[in-house]
Amino acid sequence: MRSAEIRQKFLDYFVSQGHHKVPSSPLVPAQDPTLLFTNAGMVQFKDVFLGNESRSYSRAVSVQKCMRAGGKHNDLDQVGKTARHQTFFEMLGNFSFGDYFKRDAIRFAWQFLTEVLGLDPEILWVTVFETDDEAYELWQEVAGVRPERIVWMGEKDNFWSMGDTGPCGPSSEIFVDRGPEYACSDHCGLGLCDCDRIQEIWNLVFMQYNRDENGILTPLPKPSIDTGMGLERIAAYLQGVNSNFDTDLLRPLIRHVEHLSHVNYDPGPGGMPFRVIADHIRAITFLLAEGVSFSNSDRGYVMRRILRRAVRFGLLLGFHRPFLHELVPVVGEIMGDAYPEVLVGESLIQQMILDEEERFRVTLDSGMKVLESKLQSVPEGGVLPGEEAFLLYDTYGFPLDLTVDAAEERGITVDQTGFDAAMKEQRERARRARNRRQDAEQLPHLQPNEFVGYHQLTSHDVPVTHLYIGADSVKRLMTGESGWLFTPKTPFYPEGGGQVADTGIIQGPHGVFKVEDVVKFQGAIWHFGTVIEGSLTAGELVTLSVDKQRREGAMRNHTGTHLLHAALRKILGTGVHQTGSLVAPDRLRFDFSYPSPLTLEQKNAIEDLVNGWILEDIPVQVQEMSKDEAINQGALAFFGDKYGEVVRVITVPSASQELCGGTHCQRTGQIGLFAITEETSVGTGSRRIEAVTGINALETFRVQRQALDQLTAQLHSAPEELADKVKALQDVNKALETELAELKRKERYQRGSQLVAEAQTYNGLKIIVHETDANSLEELREVLDGVKSQVSGAVLAAKHGERASLVVYLGKDLVARGLDARALVKTLARRIDGGGGGRVDLAQAGGKDVRGIPSMLDEARHLLSEKLMAAG
Ligand code: ALA
Repeated sequence: MRSAEIRQKFLDYFVSQGHHKVPSSPLVPAQDPTLLFTNAGMVQFKDVFLGNESRSYSRAVSVQKCMRAGGKHNDLDQVGKTARHQTFFEMLGNFSFGDYFKRDAIRFAWQFLTEVLGLDPEILWVTVFETDDEAYELWQEVAGVRPERIVWMGEKDNFWSMGDTGPCGPSSEIFVDRGPEYACSDHCGLGLCDCDRIQEIWNLVFMQYNRDENGILTPLPKPSIDTGMGLERIAAYLQGVNSNFDTDLLRPLIRHVEHLSHVNYDPGPGGMPFRVIADHIRAITFLLAEGVSFSNSDRGYVMRRILRRAVRFGLLLGFHRPFLHELVPVVGEIMGDAYPEVLVGESLIQQMILDEEERFRVTLDSGMKVLESKLQSVPEGGVLPGEEAFLLYDTYGFPLDLTVDAAEERGITVDQTGFDAAMKEQRERARRARNRRQDAEQLPHLQPNEFVGYHQLTSHDVPVTHLYIGADSVKRLMTGESGWLFTPKTPFYPEGGGQVADTGIIQGPHGVFKVEDVVKFQGAIWHFGTVIEGSLTAGELVTLSVDKQRREGAMRNHTGTHLLHAALRKILGTGVHQTGSLVAPDRLRFDFSYPSPLTLEQKNAIEDLVNGWILEDIPVQVQEMSKDEAINQGALAFFGDKYGEVVRVITVPSASQELCGGTHCQRTGQIGLFAITEETSVGTGSRRIEAVTGINALETFRVQRQALDQLTAQLHSAPEELADKVKALQDVNKALETELAELKRKERYQRGSQLVAEAQTYNGLKIIVHETDANSLEELREVLDGVKSQVSGAVLAAKHGERASLVVYLGKDLVARGLDARALVKTLARRIDGGGGGRVDLAQAGGKDVRGIPSMLDEARHLLSEKLMAAG
């Protein structure tokens, strides 16, 4: 049975049981900072389980792309070692949101496996949580499972949580016994070992709790169901193959690696590199397709580590050139039907992988050298300190797993606790640096207030219902006090969707509150600010007024951002993804995935397109519709944003359509003018455009005009002649520099010659020992260059400021007599309280005590005469 057929059968079966078919959500969870990647089918329903969000259905089924690398569920290190671990995989899942519970979950799972897929009940085993008598009974009653096939398990195996916080509950798992030929020993069995014989295929979670930051469990509003079955595992079983890597989902990738490397795949331990590469290239391709870019933090860093692991294993197959990008089309062939996103930007994805792999090969060489030297100082069987490993990670971008692997090869272990501590300390520093917004999290949960700011900028006679200073509720805010103010409705836009918060004034009967920031917290909009006059008291009726000019600037930039996004996709291709944006009153910033700098032509074409739409003065439409409808119409959604079921769609007909909660112009003409001010790189494969609109565009031109006016006046040229004029000046400058260097050289030579006149002869050898007027160690060496050819040896010193310098040159005659410049420098430098080194024929030193120079030179004369006269 092909994998595509298994997906379809799963969806069809649960739809026939009244489930709503929901498409896979992105691998990057929308606005959930607690989670690095979508690690299970339930992630997109987290808020539904928690009761924070409601849907039109109470049963759902999905095939969800998942990623288990980084974060709580992390299988990265296992991948390649076993038949069944992957970073990227697909999870088949059915969900109940307070609808059915254990009984039906068990019934559906059993029926699907035994009737729809036709698995023999005799090969199935189940586990239940140690206190879950109910599930134990139900398996027997509903599915007819014999008690000896039901195994009790503890919290580690049978209590599932999404992350450190979030929905969780006891679970029950279904296992397939693949037969004695897979056994690790005669005594192997469920709960006794971890081999590939009895494999978990389906996890039924009885969602009952929410876990908070302190680990405390509170019951969910309604008991719910979350299940997950790995597509690759069930496919392996149904396709009668030994491992996930032999299924139609992964084997073609392994075949391609065989083809590229001319090495045959070995399904045993020797085949690990193939499995690692096949898994990792899928993960990387999907992440890039979603707009994640390689970086040194968060998701981008996990992706970077995955690529680096693949490259390292590639070395074992003899890949000494970039090869991973060549596998992307194979991922497309296997997965493109079900996930068209991997086809859309295929060539872009390949380019980004190629660039990253090339860069890593450079890092690999230099990082390896640093690591080697660190490891050399650790004896076999010893431990590499955690801070050292962290330093390698932090400074050289060298992933911990590479360090661990390389250390392991030499019988050295890495102090991971020390590494974690160093990492934690760095995180702590970053956390402290974050701003006040975190304060908002201590505010109470209130009923969401009404945002009226799409249509009005001022609201009159609105009561102040809550005032807070920090986390403390207060009755009144006095002049000079800063705090949080809440009203049941507000025209103030809270920061969101890249658009910055409004500022403005809240005027009460006895005072004025200046709004400095507006934050939306759990659906409620809070104003942060300072009382600048009189006082504000809870219960008073106030007038809220948004700073109009600022808001209008933000509107121009927000609509401008949508047009820019549309233009980028038209000019650069639809593989371009938004990775971030900032909409401020005076400028806009837009980050997107693209592998190379834009050409002037591309930038001009983008500006032309956007300004064309502005000149057409197109009316901007705002509609509310269901999310599915919006996506079906082709509206763009930004993965970093979270959308409810009913979404707001901003349409500029024939130009752009996006899901967005921000504030916009009524017509594109209001933008006035759009101009790109900068286009730069923000990390690998990611570009940033900064632009201005309206009056700010004009202002930008004024600044440039002023600079240009100044230059044309200074250089007495017309603007179009400026470049030539500057070039001519640069040429003259270069010629002067060359001339100056020549003069200096001559001068040095002359100084040198004067010195030679002072040379002394010891046993027929001419030697200069002298204090010069050089102004730096470098100059001192230049003076030495001037005399070297005319003497057999030289000891020159100089003082510059508070420092003393010394150079010692010994020609071959002196070296032949057993003299060593390094030893000489070492002895002499003591007199100037310094030290240095070099080669046997040339050494130098610096010191702190300039008063020692004369006695140092005396000592030099003395030592040299002693040695040379004796040797004579
Ligand atoms: N969320 C559960 C899991 O991932 C089903 O195993």
